[in-house]
Amino acid sequence: MTGNLTAIEVSGLEKRFGSFRAVKGIDFTVGRGEIYGFLGANGAGKSTTIKMLCGLLEPSGGTALVAGVDVAKDPEGVKRKIGYMCQKFSLYEDLTAAENVEFFGGIYGLAEKRLRQRRDEAFELLELTGRRDTFAGDLPRGFQQRLALACAIVHEPEIIFLDEPTAGVDPIQRRAFWDLIYSFSAAGTTIFVTTHFLDEAEFCHRISFIADGVLVAENSPAGLKELLSAWRLYEVRAADPATLLPAVRRLPAVHAAALFGDTLHVMADAAAVPDRLFAGVSGVTAVEPVAPTLEDVFLHIAGKKS
Ligand SMILES: Nc1ncnc2c1ncn2[C@@H]1O[C@H](COP(=O)(O)OP(=O)(O)OP(=O)(O)O)[C@@H](O)[C@H]1O
Ligand SMILES: [Mg+2]
Repeated sequence: MTGNLTAIEVSGLEKRFGSFRAVKGIDFTVGRGEIYGFLGANGAGKSTTIKMLCGLLEPSGGTALVAGVDVAKDPEGVKRKIGYMCQKFSLYEDLTAAENVEFFGGIYGLAEKRLRQRRDEAFELLELTGRRDTFAGDLPRGFQQRLALACAIVHEPEIIFLDEPTAGVDPIQRRAFWDLIYSFSAAGTTIFVTTHFLDEAEFCHRISFIADGVLVAENSPAGLKELLSAWRLYEVRAADPATLLPAVRRLPAVHAAALFGDTLHVMADAAAVPDRLFAGVSGVTAVEPVAPTLEDVFLHIAGKKS
C-alpha cells in the first residue's frame, strides 16, 4: 500500500473470459473514507471489477491492493477486511432478519458475544430493530436492502463494496440509504458503489465511468461537469422534441444534442446567441440555458466514443 490513506489501489487490472476481455486493464485509487462511484452501462464490467476487488474472481492480469492486501495473492485475507453486497443480494428468506445477520457474522468468525453486540448495533443503525424476528422473505424490498447491508457490515469492514444497492428501491428509501452511506464514510469507512442512477452518482466524492471494460473518465461530479465548460447547455422545448433532433444537430453552432425527458438538451458554442441559435428550426417553443447534470456528461462521453 502506498500509505494508509489509500484504501484501494488498482493497476492494469484485467479480466478475460476465454478470448473476451470484460475488463481491459484499468487503473485507479480510492482514498480511505472516500465514496467512490463506479458507473457504466449494462455489461460494461462493473460487477466483474467488484468481484475481483472482493477476492471472488481471480484477475487475469494487473494488480489490486484492497485494504493493503493483494487480491490475487490473498483473496481470503481480502474477504475478512471488506463487506460486499452483491447485485442480486442474497438473503436466506426462510431465516429471520436476526438469523441472517448472525449467519453472516458466523462466517466472518465473530465470537458469540461480539456477534450479538454487532447484530444489535447494526439493527439499531439501520433501523431494523422492529423487524428482527420477521422472515427475510416477508420483508418489504427496502428493508431487505438494509438487511443485506447489515449482513455486509456486521464484522465492521474497512471497505464496503455495494453493487447496485438501490436497484428496485423507491426514491425515499434510496435517499435514506445514501444517508447511511454518508454516515459510514464520515466514520472513516471507504465505500465503493456501482449504480445506474446518475442522480445518485452526484452523491459520490469521485466517480469513474467504465465503458466496454475501459475507464473513460474519472473525477469529482463537479470536475466531470467541467468537461462541458467549453460549451453552453440549453434546454429546448417543443411539442415533439424527437422530430427536431436531426435539424438541431445540423446547426453549425451545435456540438451535441440529445433527448432529455420531454425536452432536448443541446450543447452549443458558448459564443452563440440563443435567440438566433434555433431561429432556423421550426417547432421550438422555448429555449433556456441550464446547468449540466452528470447525465449530460455521460451523454457527452458516450457520444465521443461512438
Ligand atoms: N462468467 C462470465 N463468463 C463470460 N462472460 C462474462 C462472465 N461474467 C461476465 N461476463 C461478461 O462480461 C461483461 C461485463 O459483465 P459485468 O457483469 O461485469 O457487467 P456490469 O457492468 O456489471 O453490467 P450490469 O449493469 O448489467 O450489472 C459482460 O459482457 C458479461 O456478459
Ligand atoms: Mg453488474
